[in-house]
Amino acid sequence: MPIRVIIDTDPGVDDALALLLGLLSPELQVEAITTVCGNVSVDMATRNVFRVLSLLAEKPWPPVARGADRPLKNELKTAAAVHGEDGLGNLERYQLPDSSPRYPDPEILPAPQGAIPLLFNLLDRFPGEISLIALGPLTNLAQAILRDPGRMQQVGEIILMGGAIGVPGNVTPVAEFNIYTDPEAAQIVFRSGLPLTVVPLDVTRQVRLTRKAILEEIQPLGTRIGQFIVDSTAYSLELFERIEEIPAITLHDPLAVGVAVDPSLLNLKPLFVDVEIQGEMTRGMTVADLRPIAADLKAKPNARVARTVDGKRFLNLFRERLCPESSS
Ligand code: RIB
Ligand code: CA
Repeated sequence: MPIRVIIDTDPGVDDALALLLGLLSPELQVEAITTVCGNVSVDMATRNVFRVLSLLAEKPWPPVARGADRPLKNELKTAAAVHGEDGLGNLERYQLPDSSPRYPDPEILPAPQGAIPLLFNLLDRFPGEISLIALGPLTNLAQAILRDPGRMQQVGEIILMGGAIGVPGNVTPVAEFNIYTDPEAAQIVFRSGLPLTVVPLDVTRQVRLTRKAILEEIQPLGTRIGQFIVDSTAYSLELFERIEEIPAITLHDPLAVGVAVDPSLLNLKPLFVDVEIQGEMTRGMTVADLRPIAADLKAKPNARVARTVDGKRFLNLFRERLCPESSS
């Protein structure tokens, strides 16, 4: 029986690859996709979900509902510098041989209700069954908890890509983008008591799709999704090749979806984690109690946190689902 999931996302190139992994994995039933501002505005994020869905042949597509258009307190600072102005590597620059757009504007048909009513509706229909996979800032989840904490108790699990536990951040020396974009929201989620599985930079940085693999192993397949991987990652790779010895796309969000497909990919440890919102230098930092002391002497764990990952097995799963002929 497939696991019912809702994916909350801010596509974003790695979000797009994560959505494809979720939609192409028979272990998951994507009941809904909700959008949130982060990498791009929420309207661009919503458009991008439909651009991803239009890559897939079969319909019906899951309902797509628009969520928060700004963080709880911060002004929104997008990640267009990394993901491109359109959030998917500036896809409008690609044409077909007849000069028509390779990625035409999709039909955008968001659900009539917003993200939170759709989330509540599904939690009411499937109490305890839904895995909520959060791939962007946690604004939608926090607003849902604030609006009706009782209904949010019906969630089976929250899997969130975010945070940096024992490694540097990626937006500041200590903060990861999803948490940093909306630290107030993240603190609400971490203090909610809901069942959290945290997929931080500690493990996502170990799952990288190199430019070499994309160009030499995926592009030659000539599949529509393979070509999308090539086209959507090119902008980011142009940036990374100037700063990385081995340019690659880090599969942050696909790994969070991968956990729902196969939990054995990660070694999870119960930890107490909270979010710093006051610090001048540390705002958005995920602070975990890693002290090697007796459990009864430190804060009670509030999350299961990924500490190690079977990166090779995940990359095989990712490529097997998105580009079947290319996995090793
Ligand atoms: O820090 C990585 C996270 O921030 C990913 O979710 C990526 O899409 C960006 O949103
Ligand atoms: Ca994301």
